Amino acid sequence: MRLVRLIGSRRRLMLILALTLSAPATAEAQWASVGDAARPARSGNALVFRTAQGVLSVSAIAPEIVRVRFSPGTRVDRDHSYTVVPQAPALQPARFETGARESHVITPALRVTIRHRPLRIAFADANGNSLDEDDPANGIATTGRTVRVWKRLRDDERVYGFGEKTGRLDKRGWKLGGYTYVMWNSDTFAYDASSDPIYASVPFFLVLRGGTAHGIFLDNTFRSSFDIGHTSEGLLSFGAEGGELDYYFIYGPSPRDVVARYTSLTGRMPLPPLWALGNQQSRWSYFPESRVRFIAENFRQRSIPADVLWLDIHYLDQYKPFTWDPDRFPDPAGLVGGLRNQGFRVVTIIDPHPKKEPGYGPYDSGLAGGHFVRNPDGSIYEAPVWPSSAPENPGPSVFPDFSRSATRGWWGSLHQPLMDLGVAGIWNDMNEPAVFATPTGTMPLNLRHDNEGQPTDHREIHNVYGMLMTRATYEGLQRIAPDARPFVLTRATFAGGQRYAAVWPGDATSDWSSLRASIPMLAGLGLSGFPFVGADIGGFVGAPSAELYTRWLQLGVFYPLMRTHTAFGTPDQEPWSYGSRHEAVNRRAIELRYELLPHIYTVMQQASTTGIPAFRPMFLDFPHDPRTHELDEQFMFGDSLLVAPVVREAATDRELYLPEGEWYDFWTGERQGGGATIRVPVTLSSLPIFVRGGAFLFRQPVVQHTGEMPGQPLRVVVYPASDSSGTLYEDDGRTMQYREGNVARRRFRQQRDDASCSVRVDPSEGRYRPAARSLELHVWWTGREPARVLAGDQLLPRASKTELEKLAAAWTVDGSFVIVKQPDRIEAMTVRVER
Ligand code: GLC
Repeated sequence: MRLVRLIGSRRRLMLILALTLSAPATAEAQWASVGDAARPARSGNALVFRTAQGVLSVSAIAPEIVRVRFSPGTRVDRDHSYTVVPQAPALQPARFETGARESHVITPALRVTIRHRPLRIAFADANGNSLDEDDPANGIATTGRTVRVWKRLRDDERVYGFGEKTGRLDKRGWKLGGYTYVMWNSDTFAYDASSDPIYASVPFFLVLRGGTAHGIFLDNTFRSSFDIGHTSEGLLSFGAEGGELDYYFIYGPSPRDVVARYTSLTGRMPLPPLWALGNQQSRWSYFPESRVRFIAENFRQRSIPADVLWLDIHYLDQYKPFTWDPDRFPDPAGLVGGLRNQGFRVVTIIDPHPKKEPGYGPYDSGLAGGHFVRNPDGSIYEAPVWPSSAPENPGPSVFPDFSRSATRGWWGSLHQPLMDLGVAGIWNDMNEPAVFATPTGTMPLNLRHDNEGQPTDHREIHNVYGMLMTRATYEGLQRIAPDARPFVLTRATFAGGQRYAAVWPGDATSDWSSLRASIPMLAGLGLSGFPFVGADIGGFVGAPSAELYTRWLQLGVFYPLMRTHTAFGTPDQEPWSYGSRHEAVNRRAIELRYELLPHIYTVMQQASTTGIPAFRPMFLDFPHDPRTHELDEQFMFGDSLLVAPVVREAATDRELYLPEGEWYDFWTGERQGGGATIRVPVTLSSLPIFVRGGAFLFRQPVVQHTGEMPGQPLRVVVYPASDSSGTLYEDDGRTMQYREGNVARRRFRQQRDDASCSVRVDPSEGRYRPAARSLELHVWWTGREPARVLAGDQLLPRASKTELEKLAAAWTVDGSFVIVKQPDRIEAMTVRVER
């Protein structure tokens, strides 16, 4: 900016900036700026501008969401998106103002100014405070094939999101000089902190300035890239190597608002089945079936809770999807049924690469239905993936064209036999798509795809291939078992893929830095619409030390998807594989997961309706506290739990930041003032957790699997505030009946002063009734023991802790808590604890 003073002329400065900024941004053809526009035309709910480079339309989708769509050239494509879900029309339509020099799109929340010469867009809030602006020198530009926009990046802005990305939570990477990210789904075995891109692409980011946030979603499936102050400190640019520059500006003002709106635009995670929130055990691969049974028996004999066992590619016959190896797994129905009787579910892997083999059902029916991806000359594309490494009769694979709706239908129905066997969920892997023995690791860019009726090449479909595979799987499972909640896990996906599958970030290395890196990565996924996420516990590539596995499992208690997984040929990686000391600590971590399941289920249900992730960065709940803005090693789980897992080797203490407010040590009940960084001593079994004052935690006793939950006492832990409330969500955990009101949603409210605490339970909303059980209120309490405890107007007896177990209604004191027990009648009532 020193140049300004030197040259004095703004015009000349623009020219110099334009030349210097555009040159390094690409090695390709020269950028052609969008140029000047004449007065716009009104078309429906949009203002349409024409320039020498293309057509730009600006429309309001909602008061806080504005769509900017620039089509290079003169043709505007069909309006089609794999991501954006149909939107209800805005209640208050936008106002448009057109002038000679500039035009405006005005909503109750936003004022968008479009300057005509040259064409530049600026977003401000209703009071005119600037939120986001095109860079004056470089707005939108194109090289003919690529499209890009340069925006101002202010010094005090932080940038988050981008889905599954390595690096720090704040993608500004302050001291690192800003990240550049590419969106191109890639099979990246043993990736590390500097690898990019990896498996999934979510071209969405959130900008936070002070406490105010907005987001931008680039709805373009081509390879795209985002430069966050990297090439030039004050500029953020993004664009794609094809298609339109089609983006949505999403206003907050809070970051939660942005995430809620982004997910209203792109859809939300469906409510998962309860069992999928239990502890899960996987490896590449458990086989033969006796080994799978052995693993199941060990969990039960050792009383280590678990719900799910996973079958990786060795269950298949020569790695062919939808088959079973007849020697290793001679009786799949017997195995799956037997495990079910022990309380286990089975999830099986299905990759998108049926083998080219006449006589093999999926190949024959796929060929007959015209379902496989083709070469430009019309022949079917073949390439090596797992079936090419099969010990017997190896051969190439063919690839379903999931961008064709008939193909998705066909693929979905191939799951019928697996569902008939009782398989509970499907694991979609290798769907970037991964291809062996090519330098790019994926398909050639010129392959042909249907693209829902508008044929295109692989450049446009690559990034949505995995998501469309999960859509085929999800919709298939839904059709086969309409009353069951489908469960799908995927490696590759795209924005909006949260509607179909949970995501795990692939083949990370078993080391301490990967353990730490999983926190900002999963937090970034959560911000980007994906709440159901979890990394391989223990890491995938290599073998974790006993200590690393234990620490990873402790963090995994708060991964929404809690699954241990490891690569082929690594040593045993079960909770009991590291000796009895570690087994005990590992058991305790998994037990905590099960004790918290009523809470975890409630938080995940909220995520499914609001889009606000369960596992979330600190700033989402504390946007106005700048000290939360770059915390990479601690996170919130729901609104109430602050988790600071131990993620450093041989640690003897852990530093963490408690935001303003009152906090309670989860383990001791001890009160801690907030607004400070504290250091807590740790041992191997420590998992530092703090509970927010006023929180309600919903717990239960340890169970061995989710099938044991009905009838367990419900424990509601009440952390003090003068007035606060919390809501518990329950349903049958399995079926779709929650959609018809078969739910139990109950609000608990405390009012507290020096003399008493009363907890009121509201009547349940919904008609679901849990099995008969007791309700224990654990009311945080300090000082003199209560003089009396009342349930309604009934005085409850004081009991010892052991007596309490036998009594239906009584109270006792346990450490920092007064426990008030009575039958859970699922009706309105009030408990009063008096000093
Ligand atoms: C890929 C997956 C991994 C799986 C393996 C074999 O590497 O990322 O999780 O175990 O393939 O299927």
